[in-house]
Amino acid sequence: MAEFPKRIDCGDCELVKPEVTFSKSQEFFDVIVKNKEFLLEWLDWPNYYSKPEDAYNYLKTVENVKGSSYLIQVDGKIVGGHGFVNFNEEYKFAELGYWLAPDFNGRGLVVRGIAALENLAFGQFGLNRLQIKVDTENVKSQAVAVRAGYVKEGILRHGYVLHGAPRDVIVYSKLKSEWEKGKVK
Ligand SMILES: CC(C)(COP(=O)(O)OP(=O)(O)OC[C@H]1O[C@@H](n2cnc3c(N)ncnc32)[C@H](O)[C@@H]1OP(=O)(O)O)[C@@H](O)C(=O)NCCC(=O)NCCS
Repeated sequence: MAEFPKRIDCGDCELVKPEVTFSKSQEFFDVIVKNKEFLLEWLDWPNYYSKPEDAYNYLKTVENVKGSSYLIQVDGKIVGGHGFVNFNEEYKFAELGYWLAPDFNGRGLVVRGIAALENLAFGQFGLNRLQIKVDTENVKSQAVAVRAGYVKEGILRHGYVLHGAPRDVIVYSKLKSEWEKGKVK
C-alpha cells in the first residue's frame, strides 16, 4: 500500500508535513496573518486564524490525516500550502487545493507542486482522476490549472460559498491516461 511521504522534493521548494512544534505553528500563523488580505480574496479559511493555537491545531491535522495537505517551503520557511482537499481511494479520485504567499507568486512553485502530487496520486496510489475547482473570477488560479495541463470540464453554478455568497466554480481535471502521456520518459 502506498504511503504519503513526509517530504516531497520539488527542486527549489519542498512539500512537507512539518513537525508540529510551537515555533512552526507560530511561523505558520504569522504567514497567514501577514497575507490575510491577499488570501481572503479567494479563500474563507484565513478568517479562522485568530491565535497561534489555531495554526497548531491545523498542523496537527496535516500531520495526522491521511491524504491531507502539505505546506510549501522555500529554504525551510513556509510560503504556502498544497495538497489534496479530498482523497477518495475507493472511487480513485482526488481534488487539489493550493495557496501561496504573494511574495512567492510568479515562480511556478504551485505548478511544480502539482506535478509532484500527480506522481504520488496517479503513480503511487493509482488514482484515475485529479480535479481542481476554481472560482470563475479567480484568473490566477485558472492559469495554474491550464498551465498544469488540466482540461476545463464545465461550470458548477453556485458550486461553493465564499464569504457567505454563492459563487460559480469551474471544474478542471486530468486523467491518469493524460498524465501518463505527458510524463517525461
Ligand atoms: C492561485 C495562486 C496559487 C497562483 O500563484 P502563482 O504564483 O501564479 O502560481 P505558480 O506558482 O504556478 O506560478 C505561475 C507563475 O509563475 C511564472 N513562472 C515563473 N517560472 C516558472 C516556471 N519555472 N514554471 C511555471 N511557471 C513559472 C508563470 O509565468 C506564472 O506567472 P504569470 O501568471 O504571471 O504568467 C496564488 O495567486 C494564490 O495563492 N492566490 C490566493 C489563493 C488562491 O486563489 N488559491 C486557489 C484557490 S482555487
